[in-house]
Amino acid sequence: MAGITNANLNSIDKVELINIPKISDPEGRGNLSVIENNTLPFEVRRVYYLYDVPSDASRGGHAHIALEQCLVAVSGSFDVVLHDGKNKKIIHLNKPNKGLVIPSGIWRELENFSSGSVCLALVSAVYDESDYIRNFESFKLFKGG
Ligand code: TYD
Repeated sequence: MAGITNANLNSIDKVELINIPKISDPEGRGNLSVIENNTLPFEVRRVYYLYDVPSDASRGGHAHIALEQCLVAVSGSFDVVLHDGKNKKIIHLNKPNKGLVIPSGIWRELENFSSGSVCLALVSAVYDESDYIRNFESFKLFKGG
């Protein structure tokens, strides 16, 4: 139940933008970024990615009770609109070496996808629909009204 308690209490200031190590090729052959077990504050149990998202589409629109995740704009850019039940924050992701770590209990919507953009999601648990809160009013109640 510890995860549920944290999800209830987590606020937007727990959302963190982390640096993903970037190795630039000395001979100009481009960059390589690597995420290892100790790069993230949780163990990765699933990876998925969003692509071919129309620029006027909104993805996400939910919070998680226990799941933690890290989002990376591995190509292009998009906005992540975050809400903790009280405060809202918009983070623009456009660098493959930056990861947005979102703890449990934070509402997120993903918008303004640029053409060809890819959102990589590294997450702490296997897919489980019962971990989702997909209604914003229910989310606000979950956060204590
Ligand atoms: P959804 O969570 O609505 O996508 P997003 O929040 O990014 O807009 O997921 C879309 C569909 O894909 C939904 O039917 C659930 C399914 N899905 C899986 O089967 N496995 C997964 O790992 C994910 C993330 C989604």
